[in-house]
Amino acid sequence: MPASRQNIVLVGFMGTGKSSIGRLIAGRLGFVFVDTDALVVERAGREIAELFATEGEEHFREMETAVLESLTHLERRVIATGGGIVLRERNLELMRELGLVVRLTASEDVIYERVARNTKRPLLQTENPRATLSALLAAREPMYAAAAQWTLDTTTMAHGAAAEAVIAEARRAFAWQGTK
Ligand code: S3P
Repeated sequence: MPASRQNIVLVGFMGTGKSSIGRLIAGRLGFVFVDTDALVVERAGREIAELFATEGEEHFREMETAVLESLTHLERRVIATGGGIVLRERNLELMRELGLVVRLTASEDVIYERVARNTKRPLLQTENPRATLSALLAAREPMYAAAAQWTLDTTTMAHGAAAEAVIAEARRAFAWQGTK
């Protein structure tokens, strides 16, 4: 199925490289990089951990959907989403409307390495973050798979190579000719 609009939406678990790889893709294509987490923070005037603590996860999820809705008229964006974006069916529809949905994956060990030292992710602030990560990952994998049209495993890939692979897929999906 060809993607409808010329945007690339990155989905995947925390630590799979959505923001870093997304920035590179945007730079190389001359697209604008957008991060749904950053937009929620900007609109709320508060950090995500603080939002979770004061307003609760559900409020954060409402804001996340509102951010996606506000993007649907745009083109030439690379949109990195929060890891929980796939929890709502409505978000899946919105992302499909936006364009090509790419899922980034990585092994559990690599994800843990990437997120372990970061305290910005409220869902992993538990007694046993490794077990929490494992359970969340298992529960969400089918959701990422259902959301995305294409998957890239970033476990052993440098970010630059991962960006190139996504661009190659976009070229096919959007039927771009020539050098873009
Ligand atoms: C979340 C992932 C985070 C952020 C929030 C919730 C999740 O985004 O949206 O902490 O539910 O997996 P990243 O995937 O960018 O870390």
